[in-house]
Amino acid sequence: MAPVRLLFVCLGNICRSPAAEGVFAKKAKEAGLEIIIDSAGTGAWHVGHAPDERMQKAAQGRGYDLSSLRARQVDAGDFYVYDLILAMDESNMADLKEMAPPDGTAKLAMMLSFGAGGEVPDPYYASTDGFAHVLNLLEAASDGLITNLKFEAPHA
Ligand code: 4NP
Repeated sequence: MAPVRLLFVCLGNICRSPAAEGVFAKKAKEAGLEIIIDSAGTGAWHVGHAPDERMQKAAQGRGYDLSSLRARQVDAGDFYVYDLILAMDESNMADLKEMAPPDGTAKLAMMLSFGAGGEVPDPYYASTDGFAHVLNLLEAASDGLITNLKFEAPHA
């Protein structure tokens, strides 16, 4: 089976979506799932920046290394490259729908539709606890997403 291509999207691409990428990468590897993944932000403020130090620290504590990730902005080409684009909150989803090219092939979903439902709250202006909460939500949703992606080839 061809690798599944997934793009995780939030506003700044320095907190939630790089964390989603790091969490999902590790879990997919453990599950033996072949994937191509990236993350991006709908906004451009942090393009080129590493993930927020607070997010990196919280993730590192659970074994996810986000240090090599760099922020980029979503672009129209993403809607042809990825199978599924995962939005962290409703505002991200609205922005993605607005910018989606009419013939784009990517499907859109809320990240937490595979987990607790609702939105991954923006932790940028929140307390340290906010980052742990984001990771809890992302870990559960990543497990749910992996379960959904585990199709088996009949003749492998
Ligand atoms: P993220 O968090 O969307 O999870 O990366 C944010 C980071 C920065 C800003 C907003 C949200 N900002 O306004 O700079």
